[in-house]
Amino acid sequence: MRVAVVGATGAVGSTILGVMRERDFPAAEIVPFASERSAGRRIDYGDRELITEALNHESIQGFDMALFSAGGSVSEEWAPRFADAGAVVVDNSSFWRMHDDVPLVIAEVNPEALDAHQGIVANPNCSTMQAVVALKPILDSVGIERIVVSTYQSVSGTGQRAVEELRDQAMAVLNATELPQPAVYPHQIAFNVIPQVESFKDGDDYTTEERKMMAETRKILGVKDLAISATCVRVPVYTGHSESVNIQTRKDLSPEECRELLAGAPGVRVVDQPADGLYPTAIDAAGQDDVLVGRIRRDPSHDKCLNLWVVGDNLRKGAATNAVQVAELLSERSLLRGARAA
Ligand SMILES: NC(=O)c1ccc[n+]([C@@H]2O[C@H](COP(=O)([O-])OP(=O)(O)OC[C@H]3O[C@@H](n4cnc5c(N)ncnc54)[C@H](OP(=O)(O)O)[C@@H]3O)[C@@H](O)[C@H]2O)c1
Repeated sequence: MRVAVVGATGAVGSTILGVMRERDFPAAEIVPFASERSAGRRIDYGDRELITEALNHESIQGFDMALFSAGGSVSEEWAPRFADAGAVVVDNSSFWRMHDDVPLVIAEVNPEALDAHQGIVANPNCSTMQAVVALKPILDSVGIERIVVSTYQSVSGTGQRAVEELRDQAMAVLNATELPQPAVYPHQIAFNVIPQVESFKDGDDYTTEERKMMAETRKILGVKDLAISATCVRVPVYTGHSESVNIQTRKDLSPEECRELLAGAPGVRVVDQPADGLYPTAIDAAGQDDVLVGRIRRDPSHDKCLNLWVVGDNLRKGAATNAVQVAELLSERSLLRGARAA
């Protein structure tokens, strides 16, 4: 199998390559792609050295699969071109996620949606991904009436430049030197909390990230009228998104039953002994593939509501790990296009 990794030098792309290596992804050849700036750059891949290429008509031919994380405009232009050339694309950008003929897939939640792919499969937004991994077992068991979610999102969710912006600002504050002007975020992120993730489009009072969370959750869970409200907040954390999730269930679910349900759910690890200081933190989740869930408790204001604290590594399960899991499923289920045609 020949696999292209598009955006291979970025925060998600380099994590994709790391996860492929860890999982011994069965690729005979892996070609990293990035912008023209990075063409020729060498990337270590265990016993192999990969050489980064730029995207052009010739360089994209002959792939079985292409894992994309190079931003929406690159995906808009190049994902269909890879698909036309015979590859199945797994795309991390938001560009294709809400298209009707593009399945939006979380490996543990709706793998069956892959069967209908037309050459492009979308990977959900990182905040959506980790929440839905925890919501799905609850939906299946007792039904969900309404969700209210507030996120505390790390800067690596914005990419490599944002990580550098936090580091440079934090150094300046600690060294009492002049603060560099914010370039990635609208305000200083070091030692601050910003209630804006992405942008306010066309006068909307919800951000594009909040709209994505609401729409993608409905699409993945297949519940068109699911009541959900999201507030997305950026915090000065390098890696790991944390979320406070309030769930109103249809049938009764006690915190004990919820703990038991989630303990048996794929991709979830319950960390919930708060009196001993055991609950998920972003630092615990960083580098892990599981979504960590804790602080499971009754909402005292409503007898069918529970509160959960859900933490995940935005670069791994929130992006790279799920993309690689989806790639594995496509291969195992003979859903690659060469295999289909055969
Ligand atoms: N970060 C997350 O937690 C996360 C989670 C889920 C989804 N995503 C999505 O994944 C995508 C990438 O995010 P990221 O955080 O990895 O960003 P990033 O660190 O800024 O990396 C961007 C990558 O895209 C490449 N690139 C830029 N312009 C290109 C072009 N014209 N042609 C080919 N490659 C190009 C860059 O190459 P150069 O190094 O040569 O510039 C780099 O490899 C975005 O769509 C983002 O929304 C991110």
